[in-house]
Amino acid sequence: MSSDAEILKTFPAAAEYLTNIHLICRDYGHAANHRLADWLGVSTSAVTQALGRLKKIGLVNQERYEHVFLTDAGRALALKVLKRHYLLEHLLVKTLDFPWDKSDEEAKVLQNQISDDLAEHLDARLGFPQTCPHGNPLPGTEVEAKLLAAPRLPAAIVGSSVVVVRITEEGEGLPTMLPFCQTAGIKPGVRVKVEASGPEGVTLKVGDRPSVLVAAVLAKHVCYDPEL
Ligand SMILES: [Fe+2]
Repeated sequence: MSSDAEILKTFPAAAEYLTNIHLICRDYGHAANHRLADWLGVSTSAVTQALGRLKKIGLVNQERYEHVFLTDAGRALALKVLKRHYLLEHLLVKTLDFPWDKSDEEAKVLQNQISDDLAEHLDARLGFPQTCPHGNPLPGTEVEAKLLAAPRLPAAIVGSSVVVVRITEEGEGLPTMLPFCQTAGIKPGVRVKVEASGPEGVTLKVGDRPSVLVAAVLAKHVCYDPEL
């Protein structure tokens, strides 16, 4: 099989497919073509075509019309790309002061271009970060299990105040999510007061800002630490 660098060079979309299959399997137990198409913003026929290519090079398994799974090699590449993505976001936001809500898109472009050596160097120079600036845990870190299990805003008790710890990867993929959070001041480490909660969403008070309704479609991607 070709090297990781060759795969990413000749088939750049592989990175997005593999990381998204990994995240969907992790969060939903299995990945179906239509969910993958939703997450990636492409047609199901584009998904079918890309999966055929990934299957050919041994990175995914899929029986006809069944769920798709990563092979060991596919998972290893997905985790490698995901880690690079988080490190690049960290570099952009924490070191270069690049806007928090725009770093995900930029990191997606850069993640295929850097070498393993540069990724290792970045990891060390950034102090081996455990999360991306949006609170998503780097694979294999100590905080991973706790962050992945953190409850979502609709579960918070009305009247309580909680500390935001994570905007999920699925949330990061929604076009309105990060710009909304940026404007409303909803970021990891920020304490928010839950003023109301219902089918339309969750109303928060963030510092001195006017109360804000976080629409249900976004609120389910904001995780908090119930112990803080
Ligand atoms: Fe992120």
